[in-house]
Amino acid sequence: MKNSDNNKPWQGRFTAATDASVEAFTASVGFDQRLYHHDIEGSIAHASMLAHVGVITDAECKTIVDGLNDIRGEIERGDFAWSVALEDVHMNIEARLTERVGDVGKKLHTGRSRNDQVATDIRLYLRDEINAICKEYMALANALIDIAKKESGTIMPGFTHLQVAQPVTLGHHVLAWFEMLVRDLQRMQDCKKRVNVMPLGSAALAGTTYPIDREYTAKLLGFDSVTENSLDAVSDRDFAIEFVSAASITMMHLSRMSEELILWSSAQFDFIEISDSYCTGSSIMPQKKNPDVPELVRGKTGRVMGALNGLLVLMKSQPLAYNKDNQEDKEPLFDTIDTLKGSLHLFAGMMPEIEFKRDNMKAAALQGFSTATDLADYLVVKGAAFRDAHEIVGKAVRYGIDQGKDLSEMTTDELKQFSDLIVDDVHDVLTLEGSVAARNHIGGTAPAQVKAAIQRAEKRLADLA
Ligand code: ARG
Repeated sequence: MKNSDNNKPWQGRFTAATDASVEAFTASVGFDQRLYHHDIEGSIAHASMLAHVGVITDAECKTIVDGLNDIRGEIERGDFAWSVALEDVHMNIEARLTERVGDVGKKLHTGRSRNDQVATDIRLYLRDEINAICKEYMALANALIDIAKKESGTIMPGFTHLQVAQPVTLGHHVLAWFEMLVRDLQRMQDCKKRVNVMPLGSAALAGTTYPIDREYTAKLLGFDSVTENSLDAVSDRDFAIEFVSAASITMMHLSRMSEELILWSSAQFDFIEISDSYCTGSSIMPQKKNPDVPELVRGKTGRVMGALNGLLVLMKSQPLAYNKDNQEDKEPLFDTIDTLKGSLHLFAGMMPEIEFKRDNMKAAALQGFSTATDLADYLVVKGAAFRDAHEIVGKAVRYGIDQGKDLSEMTTDELKQFSDLIVDDVHDVLTLEGSVAARNHIGGTAPAQVKAAIQRAEKRLADLA
């Protein structure tokens, strides 16, 4: 990157050159050059609007637009010389335009300011990224549905307090993840509504004296509407905070899924095997196969939550309107976009590569007296009060711990010693299959309900596409 004494567009009122350390400190071009495509898109629309209202001629507009398209080519070929002295992506491109097309390039900035320009660029950029991210949500949600279809009848222990609680189906567990993601996708789609509003035309802070047609520009750029207040429009970064907030919630969900996958792939659980292509080894322990992808996603959750806090603090107490502080919005926003998109993408790729060890899951569900609640419910059906039933089953469990037997392994006679209400049909409810099948209502874990939930899930997802 060049660090030279370029003529700065704002040089007029200055007599001394910018100190080199100040130049380096205030420049954002190192990170905001990723906005180049949307900056050019915004400038082309702005120039077209200026011609439409007669502030520049059609010929001038064509020269500007052609020049901007050529510059886009230069950037994409890697031929563009970015300059720190020109501070940011906006002034780099504008200066290059004038270099290429001559004085007419200087007319591009009529009726706008970098303040409304940058706010517009970020919104255009984020809108595209949200669209890409929504596709990743969809891919992951579909991958989860595919697993649920295969595992609707697979029995595993359900946990509370990470202690075996009641048997559930794996399909049901995976659909719980699906529900989290659907809410995340909806939040993202909702966030996009507030992103897709155009600040351009607000100029520096108060609007502009030129007869601009903001609706015209907004239509060219695909914005749903234009901002209502110029002071707010140049300073508002709520839309970025909202995005990072939605991203933080998703990362929190992904970290929960990660945690379970990490636990499940440990030798102690041994519920799953993540394919080699999504794991790495240890440089010192030859036997190790580590679940790096979920571990890293769990870890990266921290940086996204950090970005949210950073942006909130960045905006806290800022007076109207634009302040240079706002330049600090970009790195946390860009980092969040990259992290969220990457995490969703890797999860969607990894999920189909997981082998679920059904026998181990079932064996684990047989430990920990997971059908104890079923026995209590059985006693209630036979006439016991629930609190008494709870007490009776507690004693049976105590007996099972001493004898090293699960409830389902006890004979009817053994069980009868705890209550006369227990007869031979008790074993129908003590099996894992009986237990899950009995939770047969919307939202329950029964295989039949999982199958019905999958049908609804597919329809709901299609409606969100
Ligand atoms: N690079 C600046 C930013 O990211 C662009 C706007 C600068 N405006 C100004 N008046 N200095 O916020």
